[in-house]
Amino acid sequence: ADLAARNTFGVPARAPWLLQVNDASLLPEALALPQLRGLPLLPLGGGSNLLFAGDAPGAALVMGGHDIRMLEDDGERVHVRAEAGVEWHGLVMWSVEQGLSGLENLALIPGSVGAAPIQNIGAYGVEAGERITAVEAWDLDAQAFVRLDRGACAFGYRDSAFKRQPGRWIVTAVEFELSRTAAPRLDYTGLAEELAAMGVASPGPREVAEAVIRIRRRKLPDPAVVGNAGSFFKNPIVPQALAEALRVANPALPVFPGDAATTRKLSAAWLIDACGWKGAREGDAGVSAGHALVLVNHGNATGLQLLQLARRIAASVQERFGVALEPEPRLVGAEWAG
Ligand code: EPU
Repeated sequence: ADLAARNTFGVPARAPWLLQVNDASLLPEALALPQLRGLPLLPLGGGSNLLFAGDAPGAALVMGGHDIRMLEDDGERVHVRAEAGVEWHGLVMWSVEQGLSGLENLALIPGSVGAAPIQNIGAYGVEAGERITAVEAWDLDAQAFVRLDRGACAFGYRDSAFKRQPGRWIVTAVEFELSRTAAPRLDYTGLAEELAAMGVASPGPREVAEAVIRIRRRKLPDPAVVGNAGSFFKNPIVPQALAEALRVANPALPVFPGDAATTRKLSAAWLIDACGWKGAREGDAGVSAGHALVLVNHGNATGLQLLQLARRIAASVQERFGVALEPEPRLVGAEWAG
């Protein structure tokens, strides 16, 4: 199967098999097909958070279920369940249409609902893991359907149990707790300013989603126009002392709270930008001219060329700032430290 149109970088890649399962209850049967025996599985959502540096070694698996439903509604808190194949942005827009808040800061993120918990997608001050109450999955180790509660998902910054044990679970559905009354979260730089520019005084979820859409459209290249997978690197989490030393030498470096009192999160975009990479291009592999954290395929780049560019970027940030960058998308067919 040809996967070039199934990854948002648009790089060439193939898999021996492509399996689409629309009814999750049929997954065990499908996975027992003799053709798939012993082959690794690559769960594939929108293909918006992976880089094919080579072909997929086994079967690409697409979960096709598209159902969204409310499970419980006490007039204030609403539990919603969406199947893995639902388009993420479609779920966000559905929720704001229902007057529900919780997902509006995550508008316009490409990809599927099933992929959201894997890397715990986040944007504009909110992470999906804060809203997820449970993830339903097929556990390949246990050969059983399981329901992992939020704690078992072990969400962190762009991290989860699913990401740490790739190949163990196939996500079939995700459950969320949303709200009819929660106050909007507007603390991320630029969001309140955008709403003010829109002339919105007391924003609800719909207006916040609209503001996020406007900011993203301005800042991030549209994968339908130029191949990309959003941020290519995670914002590095470093010891507080290193962050302070870097800040003394580079007063403009954005520094955010880390995952513990002793750590800080640095802006990878700023570090890359400072090394002069914004808008750089090597053949058809490049760095977006609009956002230094986004690698782009100008047309005919291969995944390997993009990976090699990414390694050069990381090496220059390491040399100049002593900070190690790690890729955010899943790499297929290569290791990062290759
Ligand atoms: N900046 C630069 N140069 C640039 C771009 C940004 O110096 O070319 C600096 C600016 O100072 C800016 C700061 O970096 O204030 C932060 O930039 P931005 O607000 O765009 O956020 P980010 O840290 O680069 C993260 C997520 C994005 C998410 C935005 C908004 C990661 C790896 N990325 O980017 O997520 O949309 O915040 O919340 O955490 C993604 O994961 O694919 C993604 C797009």
